[in-house]
Order: sequence, then structure tokens, then C-alpha cells
Amino acid sequence: INVPKPINEPIYDYAPGTNERESLKRALAEMSEVVLDIPLVIGGKEIRTGNTGKVVMPHDHQKVMATYQKAGPEEVQMAIDAALAAKNDWQAMRWEERCAIFLKAAELLAGKYRYQLNAGAMLSAGKTAFQAEIDAACELIDFLRFNVYFAEQIYKNQPISSPGVWNYLQYRPLEGFVFAVTPFNFTAIAGNLPTAPAIMGNTVVWKPASSLVYTPYLFIRILEEAGLPAGVINFVPGSGASVGDICIADPHLAGVHFTGSTPVFQKMWRLIGENIASYHAYPRLVGETGGKDFVFAHASANVEELTTALVRGSFEYQGQKCSAASRAYIPRSLWPQVESLLRRDIGKIKMGPTTDFRNFVSAVIDKHAFSNITQYIDYAKENDGGEILIGGGYDDSVGYYIEPTVILARNPHFKTMVEEIFGPVLTIYVYEDADFDKTLELCDTSSIYGLTGAIFARDRQAASVAISRLENAAGNFYINDKPTGAVVGQQPFGGGRASGTNDKAGAMSNLLRWVSPRTVKETF
Ligand code: SER
Repeated sequence: INVPKPINEPIYDYAPGTNERESLKRALAEMSEVVLDIPLVIGGKEIRTGNTGKVVMPHDHQKVMATYQKAGPEEVQMAIDAALAAKNDWQAMRWEERCAIFLKAAELLAGKYRYQLNAGAMLSAGKTAFQAEIDAACELIDFLRFNVYFAEQIYKNQPISSPGVWNYLQYRPLEGFVFAVTPFNFTAIAGNLPTAPAIMGNTVVWKPASSLVYTPYLFIRILEEAGLPAGVINFVPGSGASVGDICIADPHLAGVHFTGSTPVFQKMWRLIGENIASYHAYPRLVGETGGKDFVFAHASANVEELTTALVRGSFEYQGQKCSAASRAYIPRSLWPQVESLLRRDIGKIKMGPTTDFRNFVSAVIDKHAFSNITQYIDYAKENDGGEILIGGGYDDSVGYYIEPTVILARNPHFKTMVEEIFGPVLTIYVYEDADFDKTLELCDTSSIYGLTGAIFARDRQAASVAISRLENAAGNFYINDKPTGAVVGQQPFGGGRASGTNDKAGAMSNLLRWVSPRTVKETF
């Protein structure tokens, strides 16, 4: 078998009058009428604990879309046991057969379930049709197809043999189970974190974020329909303390595949450190964590392109992408023009429910996010080092709405310029043109993170200087484009410093973390 070289799943635009738009609207209407009952799925069985949470629509938080079950210590142990019990058969299966299941799931996502997944992401996670399409459809499909393609390349990568000697690498899965902990902001990431280790023959305990349970549940059902055997991926929503602490303390923990906050990942790492002598093997820790992603403009930048990147990079999906632009450095000579274009473009943004396709932004994910983000806005209102230039309003009476907000920082170390906010807030520092080099240095050193960043310059020499000075400031670096929207197979995604282990989601380097090769030498 040769795995077909994937191409990225084409993006539907849901233009008015298209069949795609009508199908999506139907899915939205059907989904709005039903309250889904989401069980735990352990060893292929539905489990109900009676300890439940609610899935509500961020744009209308009185509307309940689902209730979900929360796992307690007993169910977490059941999930670990189920993953361990499913392991032998799963790893013994030929890799082509395992991969066929994930390719089948990609086909189901691309066809039969596309609108349902997208509608789920729109209603339960506050995504516009376009943001849902590039995430819950295209990126998730791409992760599955590309990971299968990379898996084949790994399995076929073999050492040389010589006369009388036959050498080969056996790409064994890790010994034990993998714990996948997934975020709210991308259904694609939520789907990738458990499936990447599973493709390589591992079995998984999967804890989705409490604020993104709906689409992960639809996805686990699709995996089942595609033929995923019981127990290979066990779905256990619940609190970090009840699910996380038990999984991490288990001696069979083989790895953690995590996307979420820096403090949570660091806490896991510390707990693993404390337990290190108790594991059968050193657990692999793969994490993508926080960011304070930048856009840096040189005086030669194209101002229209720069402004579009600032608006799209900062405010699409309400700024809740790990890659979102949240600080910008603009030279004094360009500032008057950039400021007026920002006012023009942000003034045109429509905010409201995702079911109205004209809206460009919607509500932030939940109460906790709303309160965290608005505290930063209030800080800027009350403190001298910065001022609110555009937006700054918020209202959670119906949905968790926060206006796209631009803060001007007089001090480049102002709190909103250096701390992760994870919302629709962009802070801008205007630098003197002559201080280009000094400001690059500032950009590099003033944040602890290293996820994404962008340089805007038409002057190639200036771009080259930035590329080299900012070498470690971003794992994904964009020249004359916004720092969001990495495409699987084209821009492998991930960052270093406090942003993670940089194992590049949707890339061969990530899949290699889920195998422990055995070198075999046979002499004739
Ligand atoms: N991969 C996403 C992006 O590049 C973020 O997770 O925007």
C-alpha cells in the first residue's frame, strides 16, 4: 500500500445562495432544537456518572445545547484500564489497517458529517461559519490525512543492511497509555491530540476541555463509525484535578499530549517529576502552551496589508487562537496611517451570534474567559502606561461579548503588552524609526513566549535583520502575513520557550514522539 500524498481539504466559503450554506443552516437549525446527552465513552461503552455539566452557547448563555457527564476517580481508572486492555490488539494490527480507520474518519468528516461538526463548533464554541470550516472541517481532516501520510514515511524509514546482516527499526508504540488533554479553541487540535498517538499504535485517555465537549463527542462517534476499536481512545470529560492527577500519577503513563495553558502544563511536568521513579518508562511530554504573538512592522511595510493582518490576526475567533496577534510594534512614521486604517476597518466589524453569517466576531467562550479578558481591559482604562484607543466595551447579559479592543502602550512593558490575554485585545507600541534594531531586541526579550510572530517589510534587508534577530521569538514566523492560520502540511505548527515543546502538530516530528523504536540486527 502507498498512502496517497494528501492535498489540503478545500475550504467552502458558504456564500449566500450556495447549497453548502443551506446545508449548514439546516444543521444549525436541527442542532438548536435538541439537547444532546453526552456520556463518557470508556472501552466503547457509554457511562453516566450523574455528575453533569452543561454545554451552553457562548453568544446566548441561557441556551443549553447538551449536558455532559463528568468522570470521577472510578471512571478515570476504568478509562486507564480500558486503554491498557485495548493496547495489545491495537499495536498488533498492521499500521495500514490502523491508518485506514483514520482515513475513513477523514472521509466521513469531509462528507456526511461536515455540516454537523461545523454547526457544533459555531453554536458551542462561538465560531463563525468560516472559522468553523477552517477548523472543525478542513484542519481536522488535514491532520488525519497528513498524519497517516507521515506515519507511512516513518514506518518505511529503515537503516541500511549489509551482506550477512539484516537491520531494521521496529517503531513500537510507547509502553502504557497516552493522556491527551485538549483545549477549547480548536476542534481540530482536540481531534489531533488523541489521534496522532493512536495512529502510531498507542491507546489513549482523552480529557477534552470542559468548554469544548460537544464537537469532540461528535468526533469520537465518527471515529467509532469509521471502525476504531473499543478502548483505543477513551473519552472522559471532567475536572483537571480528578482526571489529570490520576492519569499523571499512574505508573503506566507513557506520554502526555497537551494543548492548553502554560501554568497547567508546568503543573503536570512538576507532578511527573515528583513521580518520576514510579513509571515503567520516562513519559513523553508534548505540549503547546501560551503565547504573546507579535506583529512587527518596519517603516517599509505595506500599510494596507499590515492593517488587514492586525485586524484578522487579532480579532478572528475573538482573539482566542494560540497564534493570535496580541502585541504590535509600529514605527512612528507609519502610525498615523495605521491608526486611521485600524479605526476604519474595526469600525466595520459586525459582532453578534454566529448564526447570522454577516458577523465577523462573536462572543468569547465562557464566563471565566470573559472575566479574565475584561480585567485586562479595565487595567488599561485605569493605569497610565497605556490607553484604550478603540473598543473597550463589553456586555455579558446575553452572550459573552467583548468589543475588538486596541490599546496603545506608552510603556513597551505595559501589562497588556507582555501578558497573555487570550481574547480580542491588541496592544500596540509605537517606536521611533531610528530604533528599529533596539525594538527588535525589545520584542525578543519582553515576553516569555515563543509561539508565532510576523514581520512586515518591503525592504528585504530589514526583513532579513528581523528574521535573524527574532530567531527564537517564534516557532511559526510569517513574513508579510498575519501570524495565524497555519495550514497542516504547509506550516508545521508549534513554538518554544514558554509556548511549548515545539513538536510541531501535524508533522512527522510530532508522530515520532509517540513511538519508541527498537533496532533489530539479525545476522545470517
Ligand atoms: N494552528 C492555529 C493557527 O495557526 C493555532 O492553533 O492559527
